[in-house]
Amino acid sequence: MTAAQTYRDRCAQTYRELPQEAAVTVLHFDSPMSDDERRQRLFAGDLFVYSPTPHSMALVAFARQMVETAFVPHFPPEAQHHLAGPDYVRVLADLKPRFINHPRSAELVRGMLSDLGADPAQTYFDVPRLRTMTSEYLNAGLTLQFESHRDTWFSAPMSQLNFWMPVYDVAESNVMAFHPRYFDTGIPNSSRDYNYAEWVAHGRTSAAQQVHAETRRQPAIERDLEPEPDLRVVTPPGGVLLFSGAQLHSTVPNTSGRTRFSIDFRAVNLRDVQARAGARNVDSECTGTTLGDFRRATDLAPLPADLIESYDTVPA
Ligand SMILES: [Fe+2]
Repeated sequence: MTAAQTYRDRCAQTYRELPQEAAVTVLHFDSPMSDDERRQRLFAGDLFVYSPTPHSMALVAFARQMVETAFVPHFPPEAQHHLAGPDYVRVLADLKPRFINHPRSAELVRGMLSDLGADPAQTYFDVPRLRTMTSEYLNAGLTLQFESHRDTWFSAPMSQLNFWMPVYDVAESNVMAFHPRYFDTGIPNSSRDYNYAEWVAHGRTSAAQQVHAETRRQPAIERDLEPEPDLRVVTPPGGVLLFSGAQLHSTVPNTSGRTRFSIDFRAVNLRDVQARAGARNVDSECTGTTLGDFRRATDLAPLPADLIESYDTVPA
């Protein structure tokens, strides 16, 4: 028996020994677990954190190069203190799509998936997004602060996994927060009004026009939550946080005085999509699917059209 097998058996044993009703969130750090087992744990609500990998560091370096060129002569996390709102938004409106659509970004994501043990022939990913969270400055459109949500309210499949990493140093006052008590507990929300195809047709394109107030309709919670205690993970730049798209998470109001720059992307495994595996759906009622956006890590092929179609429900 190899050391990795022994480790896996021990983990499985420990997991089985937990009482069924225990509200436990396990955070695995630099785990050697296989991708297949890791996905099962993610679907059960566990979180995984990895030290920077060669390709995550290359992606961070690539992002920094683009961001620093765009905000020259300002240090990007400080640039918000030097630019008027509309000028700041103009820089982002040009920068974000260039990063998202750059072939080098996708190439580095593929490298990261390999670094982290995902099978490239089975793994499909969506383009990496560059996100900014200004500190007590703008809160709409391209700098929108996301209220508590699950990605699965936004037409993501229940098998979606999210990868997140900071581009510059972060602190507990400008990262993401998880609300683990709600992983298995449904919350009244307006996802029933969301259809991805409609959003693409009408909502997303107007992001750059939203500077001070957010008017686009997004799925949101419909009653007060108990957001605390929450869980925040602070890693060095390029450190990777991996979680289920069904995790309830939010952006912490940024009071750090510095803009947070982060990169995130989503991935699915073909076998999970085919088997409709994933986290349990406790409260998502949206229609449609984002699966058409995913590309295979080996050759950028899309998922089979009939499979995407089988997820592409329409509003009642
Ligand atoms: Fe999210």
